[in-house]
Amino acid sequence: MAQFNLLINQKKHEVDVDPTTPLLWVIRDHIGLTGTKFGCGIAQCGACTIHLNGNAVRSCVLPVSAAQDKEITTIEGLSNNNDHPVQLAWVEAQVPQCGYCQSGQIMSAAALLNRNNTPSDLDIDRAMKGNICRCGTYPRIRKAIKSVTKQ
Ligand code: FES
Ligand code: FES
Repeated sequence: MAQFNLLINQKKHEVDVDPTTPLLWVIRDHIGLTGTKFGCGIAQCGACTIHLNGNAVRSCVLPVSAAQDKEITTIEGLSNNNDHPVQLAWVEAQVPQCGYCQSGQIMSAAALLNRNNTPSDLDIDRAMKGNICRCGTYPRIRKAIKSVTKQ
């Protein structure tokens, strides 16, 4: 066990965990933020996507030791009132079906738009290809991302 200082959604947290613990489980089980989901545990589905210093990362394979002193953002911290442009676009396009993959999808889309606010179709495909949706909401995801780029 070891002590780690984490900055999650602009709040400081101190946790005492094994250094190899995936950040996903620290966020969910120790901090209690359950919006970030577990899908595969091997960086293949994107359900666990969060932002680390603004970049989309898979928290299921990121050891907590690699997140110390970095800025961690989960779906709960993306905006104050669920009003991030990507969240608003998701509602407008009625993207979710079962919803399980959607926090990861939104976090990947938000990271893409942070670094490129006019992504091409290819940019969108590249940024989103690691986020799997078993309900097949891909056309609505693309539509929602494109609607943000037009604003
Ligand atoms: S749970 Fe992390 S990528 Fe699937
Ligand atoms: S909305 Fe069901 S898995 Fe994506």
